[in-house]
Amino acid sequence: MNRIFSGIQPSGNLHLGNYLGAMRNWVDLQHDYECIFCMVDMHAITVWQDPAALRAQTRELAAGMIAAGIDPEKNVLFVQSQVPAHAELAWVFNCVARMGWLSRMTQFKEKAGKNKENVSVGLFAYPCLMAADILVYKATHVPVGEDQKQHLELARDVAQKFNSDYGKDVFPLPEPLILGAATRVMSLRDGAKKMSKSDPSDYARINMSDDADTLALKIRKAKTDPLPLPETAEELVDRPEAANLLGIYAALLGKSLDAAMAEVAGLSFADFKSRLADAAVSVLGPINAEMARLRQDPGYVDGVLKRGGEKAAALARPVIDEVYETVGFLRP
Ligand code: AMP
Ligand code: TRP
Repeated sequence: MNRIFSGIQPSGNLHLGNYLGAMRNWVDLQHDYECIFCMVDMHAITVWQDPAALRAQTRELAAGMIAAGIDPEKNVLFVQSQVPAHAELAWVFNCVARMGWLSRMTQFKEKAGKNKENVSVGLFAYPCLMAADILVYKATHVPVGEDQKQHLELARDVAQKFNSDYGKDVFPLPEPLILGAATRVMSLRDGAKKMSKSDPSDYARINMSDDADTLALKIRKAKTDPLPLPETAEELVDRPEAANLLGIYAALLGKSLDAAMAEVAGLSFADFKSRLADAAVSVLGPINAEMARLRQDPGYVDGVLKRGGEKAAALARPVIDEVYETVGFLRP
C-alpha cells in the first residue's frame, strides 16, 4: 500500500516556492494516493513565533491548501499539535537517532550559524519530529522540495535503526518524491538564495496572497542581468536570476524549460517579465480569490482541521501502541 505524507510550516506567508515546489504536486497526488497533509506548527516553534501570528498563519495556510485544490474530505488535512502521537513518537526517535547524525544536517547548520550554543534544542531535534510525522502513519512516499531530501534520508536511517535495534520490521523506509520542474524556486532579489518565508524583503518572494498588481510589480522589479534574455538552456549557466525566472515561467505553464524558453525567445527581458506576470496571475488569481473567501469563514476552516485531526489520530494510535509495545513500555 502506498501512503503519502507531507508537512508544511505555518511560519509565514505561503509563497510561490511552496506552491510550485510542494502544494501543486500534492494536488495532483491526491488522485492516485491516500494522502495525509499536515500543518507542522510544532516544527514552527523551533524558532520564535508570535502566538497570535502562529494561530492566524495556521488558518491561512489551511485556507491556502484548500484554495489550491486539496480536497479536505478526500485527504487528511490537519494540524500537527492536535495529534499528540507526533510528539510521542518523536521522543522515541530522539532516543534512536544519534547526535552525530543530527549534527550533520545542513538545515540545522545554516539556521544555527555561529549561534549553536543559543538555538533551541527543538531546532536540533527537528528531523526526529519530522521522521515521527511520516512514520507514525507508516507513510511510504513523501513529496518534498529538494531542500528536504537530507531530512528524509535521516527519517529512513531512523526507521532502519529502530527496526534493526528491536529486530522487528515496524517501519517502512519512506521514499522522497521530488516532483515538477520548479523544485527549487529562488529569491527574486538573489538567484543564489532560495525563495523563503523568512526573507526580510517581501520583494524577494511572490506570496500566494499577493494581488495581481503586487505580483506584476514584484516581477517587474525582480533582479536580472544586463545580457539579453537567454534562448537556450546552455546560456543559463552562471545566470541564476534569468534561470530562476525562466524556470518559474515553465513551471507555471506546466511546460518543459526548453519549450518555455522557445516560446519567449527573442523577447526583451521587460516583455518576458510581463508574460511571466500574466502567467502568475492566471495561476494564482483564482487561488487568491478562494483564499479571500475562506478568510471570511474561519469556523469552516477550523472545523475541517478538527475533523482532519480526528482522522489522523485514529490512523496513528495503533502505530504508537505497536511502538510502545515493541520498546517495552508497560501498557495499561
Ligand atoms: P517550508 O516553507 O520550508 O515549510 O516548506 C514547505 C514545502 O515547500 C516543502 O516541501 C519545501 O521543500 C517546499 N519549498 C519551500 N521553499 C521552496 C522553494 N523556494 N522552492 C521550492 N520548494 C520550496
Ligand atoms: N521540514 C519540512 C519543511 O520545512 C516540513 C515538514 C515537517 C515535513 N514534517 C514533515 C515535510 C514531514 C515532509 C514530511 O519544509
